[in-house]
Amino acid sequence: MAADRAAIVTGASSGIGLAVARMLGERGHAVTLVARRPEKLAAAYEQLRSEGLEVQQVAADVGDEAAVIGAVAAHRDAYGRLDVLMNNAGVGIGAPIGELSTKRMDIQLATNLRALPLFYRESLPMLTAAGAEHRNALVVNTASIAGKSGQAWLSIYSATKFGVVGFTQAMNKELNGLGIKSTALCPGFVDTPMADFVKGHIAPDDMIQTSDIVAAVALLLSLTPGCVIPEIVFERPGSGGSLT
Ligand SMILES: NC(=O)c1ccc[n+]([C@@H]2O[C@H](COP(=O)([O-])OP(=O)(O)OC[C@H]3O[C@@H](n4cnc5c(N)ncnc54)[C@H](OP(=O)(O)O)[C@@H]3O)[C@@H](O)[C@H]2O)c1
Repeated sequence: MAADRAAIVTGASSGIGLAVARMLGERGHAVTLVARRPEKLAAAYEQLRSEGLEVQQVAADVGDEAAVIGAVAAHRDAYGRLDVLMNNAGVGIGAPIGELSTKRMDIQLATNLRALPLFYRESLPMLTAAGAEHRNALVVNTASIAGKSGQAWLSIYSATKFGVVGFTQAMNKELNGLGIKSTALCPGFVDTPMADFVKGHIAPDDMIQTSDIVAAVALLLSLTPGCVIPEIVFERPGSGGSLT
């Protein structure tokens, strides 16, 4: 189906990704929803469809190169263009460094960091076409406040998110001339299932809300071609830039 604007959102079955996918759909984007677990993804898909939004679902592990290639191809086949790419799928697995599990480290590296260059590479022809058309092709990369300040017991997660911030800077230097802008989002705790483990210590209402992230992405969509915001840091009041 031809669309005026189209987007891919990874990690779209829950939390931040689901909220941003809804906003993009409400603003007239056809959205490809990507997440790993098919049942959870199908529930998000059905919900957004019932709200009248143009969405498709692609169950894919963003840590799997063939799955990334397939997800971008499915988007291209369905909608033929890409104006917004949100690399948002992420996992955090805490452990002291002395108990590092190589397998868990690799899952975080693959999901949180390695997936980004794969999605850029596969999406580049469509992003370049959108950039040539309106000079406002947008890639939003969900990093974390843990990508601005190293976190004990979340060291691998922190390292991947620092990587996201650095990679985003590099992409702006490399692709801004094509009308492709990239922004790293760096929030502290957001009230989503990923932050459930800390809700005994921090009340959900005291966390950043997905609506805050949605508002920031809406701001990015409203920028003129001559302005790029490379990074947005979201802190909980009084946290002083630390995670908790
Ligand atoms: N919540 C926070 O406090 C917080 C703070 C800073 C940054 N972040 C970042 O925000 C992003 C979104 O997290 P969230 O808070 O919205 O968490 P969430 O509600 O747990 O959602 C995570 C999403 O990512 C998907 N996902 C996980 N691994 C995947 C994989 N390998 N391939 C494809 N999809 C995958 C999940 O679905 P499946 O598991 O079914 O695949 C789900 O849709 C993450 O990058 C996270 O690091 C979160």
